Amino acid sequence: ELAGTTFGPFANLSSDPRAERYVRPEAEVNVIVRTSEIELPVIDLAKLIHPEFSKEEAAKLHLTCQEWSFFQLVNHGVPEELIEGLKADTVEFFNKPLEEKMAYKQDNDGTLQGYGQAFVLSEEQKLDWCDMFYVMTRPTAFRNMKFWPTSPSTFRDNIDRYSLELTKLASCLWQYIARNLGVAPEVFVQLFKDHPQGMRFNYYPPCPEPEAEKVIGISPHSDATGFSILLQINDEQGLQIRKDGEWIAVNALPNALIVNLGDVTEVLSNGIYKSIEHKATINTETTRISLVAFHGPDNLDMLQPLPEVVGDGNPNYGSMSYQEFMKAYF
Ligand code: SIN
Ligand code: FE2
Repeated sequence: ELAGTTFGPFANLSSDPRAERYVRPEAEVNVIVRTSEIELPVIDLAKLIHPEFSKEEAAKLHLTCQEWSFFQLVNHGVPEELIEGLKADTVEFFNKPLEEKMAYKQDNDGTLQGYGQAFVLSEEQKLDWCDMFYVMTRPTAFRNMKFWPTSPSTFRDNIDRYSLELTKLASCLWQYIARNLGVAPEVFVQLFKDHPQGMRFNYYPPCPEPEAEKVIGISPHSDATGFSILLQINDEQGLQIRKDGEWIAVNALPNALIVNLGDVTEVLSNGIYKSIEHKATINTETTRISLVAFHGPDNLDMLQPLPEVVGDGNPNYGSMSYQEFMKAYF
């Protein structure tokens, strides 16, 4: 039995009329997954900031960003005690009865904050097998506290602390990414100074047979952001990324954060870095929970390749107001 999702408990996907909304045509569910002789590259932040090892690790970061757009970050400095607390709170929150979670339900105003599902635009579209809970976390003026759960009692404080840690981490990473692109770190510092940060908690309950293999947790997409930082809340894996035309299942290391570059970074870097497609799978037995923190630009009027990156060459992307881009994305 499902522990109360916005789509409610299904007994059997083939006999429930709502199942149609989740079961996709064969062609849409690309099930080819390369088994992981290939591990997602690991970037060590302790090395990146260490005078002696920085150069080598930064070179590895550059290559990884070019080839993968996704990496696992270890020695990231976010206190383990904080991560453990946040994980426990998140699990406790999602395990609550649906009525309690729906006290935080999304307003229908397109802001996506609160509890519900993402990007439901029509009655016909297929739905993701996932409940999301989304809050804007920074700058703090963007917070709408009516969406911040008061129970578990430590949840708000842990979200706040984690959001600050990730902001520091993001600022640090931007500087290395800037240098790797031949851009003065100050340019990125300025672009991302008070960067907006949003957190999306993803809850994937078990999906009953028989057609579970045609159900997707989160549909293939690329992130609009500068970059996103993913934390696996429990031990279930489910992230897949598209590389060279294949879906690759990612096995996250226990203490790693997974970083992926978004569309904004692809454009700013003139395509030196790509924003690659990823999706989340479901499984039939267990619940999976993850948390993605999006880090977007702040002082950006026009989204276009940075002149420092383009140099004497040609921009591979046109120019578009950032607002217009975000509207188009959503
Ligand atoms: C996402 O980054 O879109 C969510 C993926 C996940 O839950 O692993
Ligand atoms: Fe994503």
